Amino acid sequence: MTQRSDLAAALKDQSLAALMNPQRSQELTLQAGPWRVDLSKHFLTPEVIQAFTDWAAERQLDDAIQQLFAGAPLNLTEGRAVMHMALRGTPDDAYQADGQGIMDDVLTERERCLAFAERVRGGQHTGATGKPIKRVINIGIGGSDLGPRMAVQALAPDHDGPELKFVANVDPSDLHHALAGADPETTLIIVASKTFTTIETLTNARVAREWLVSALGEAAVGAHFVALSTALDRVAEFGIPAEQTFGFWDWVGGRYSLWSAIGLPIMLAIGRDAFEQFLAGARDMDQHFQTAPLAQNVPMLMGLLYAWYRQDWHKGSVAVIPYDQHLSELPAYLQQADMESLGKRVTRQGAAIEHATGAVVWGEPGTNGQHAFFQLLHQGSDWIPVEFILSARPRLGAQAQHDLLVANAVAQAEALLVGKDTETARAEKSGPNGLDLGLHRTFPGSRPSTLMMTERMTPRALGALIALHEHRIFVQGWLWNLNAYDQWGVELGKELALSAAEALASGNTQGKDASTAAAIDWLRSNRG
Ligand code: F6P
Repeated sequence: MTQRSDLAAALKDQSLAALMNPQRSQELTLQAGPWRVDLSKHFLTPEVIQAFTDWAAERQLDDAIQQLFAGAPLNLTEGRAVMHMALRGTPDDAYQADGQGIMDDVLTERERCLAFAERVRGGQHTGATGKPIKRVINIGIGGSDLGPRMAVQALAPDHDGPELKFVANVDPSDLHHALAGADPETTLIIVASKTFTTIETLTNARVAREWLVSALGEAAVGAHFVALSTALDRVAEFGIPAEQTFGFWDWVGGRYSLWSAIGLPIMLAIGRDAFEQFLAGARDMDQHFQTAPLAQNVPMLMGLLYAWYRQDWHKGSVAVIPYDQHLSELPAYLQQADMESLGKRVTRQGAAIEHATGAVVWGEPGTNGQHAFFQLLHQGSDWIPVEFILSARPRLGAQAQHDLLVANAVAQAEALLVGKDTETARAEKSGPNGLDLGLHRTFPGSRPSTLMMTERMTPRALGALIALHEHRIFVQGWLWNLNAYDQWGVELGKELALSAAEALASGNTQGKDASTAAAIDWLRSNRG
């Protein structure tokens, strides 16, 4: 038993509402960039903060943060630095990766991307027949899709560029829908792939290429295709010209890449100034993470809390509920950021980890979720930490309607905290024929949640929110001593998918287990 697990056990039956008072509310409501983050509805007591301080000291977290920002090769299994913070850096920053200065390259490539985006937005970059671009289709998957897709959606009210579509799935329907109604003469196709080997992306890119070539001929590919990648040689093989290829570097993890060339769809959607604000918001959070003391450091405290909830409270998931329809893709984005980073069971040095690590991240926008899964959040047999994300002002529509939206978020957090006791529930209502509904209508309360609020969901606020989670994930990974920056767990499925595709084509299921072989046989005999 550690001090932290003792504290978890001791606090198990603690009423969170009983802990609440104005001083607590004030002390545990922190400011990080434009975000007001209320952590007062968590099991945070002075003893817990002390235990967190000890945990951070034991793991030398401050030193790790310095190493991270200094470009040390923290991604040990791939021998790489983790330097996505440099992608939002300024000429005044001196970021390095593996001892080499990287800001010149970062700024040059950022400027190339922004200049290209502005040419497309302004109609100076035209298709092969001289027409301006009206639709942009981003073909990419995982980190080459989820970040730009989420940010473009989140910033839709700022969108004044060409129409944007995102294609990720190798399911042919996905590309089909993106191409439906597209005019090849006014369509730009972005092939986004860090490695330029991902089968889903390359398959969709080839089909899109055929679609374009069949309408406009081979010579049109140059004007209509853009590549975002670190693998410039593979891009060239595909036939995309160097001037329309935008690069990044192996020290940028795929799920941390939306600040790089992978963010081109965001630049196309919102333009230079707003994109620079987006980067500035992330920089605000980098600054906060590096300088705020632990008790005021939001990514640090949230990382410590989530690590503690997982390890010592055995909580298997975290719900992310944006009360903002434009943030509907945020849970999916955070799912990759968190689960691909923390879904590991081996230390950075390669030994087994003996406790639970990465949790499931899931969610849906409110208020929709209230009418679907909130029943379980309020009365299920176990509690799940919830993140409510909202802004004081609407992006679109009337303030009064927006007030109703955010009142719901605040009320849900309140209900999770205070609950309703059985006596009150019983006195309020009985069932048919006097049936006792006391326990049915009891809310246990003391269910922790975080209220994350900003004045307005601007590009800057979004940038800060994403960087907050990036750093929170770093903290968890470091506390658990796992490598949050590799993803070996996706390899086996990729290998076996190739082999299953071969078996499906040839009918040769030799070496497959009986269930897999039978599934392949059934698919073969039922194909169209
Ligand atoms: O399969 C997982 C993964 O490697 C992710 O980590 C990555 O974001 C995604 O695939 C796409 O990779 P790429 O950008 O190289 O196509």
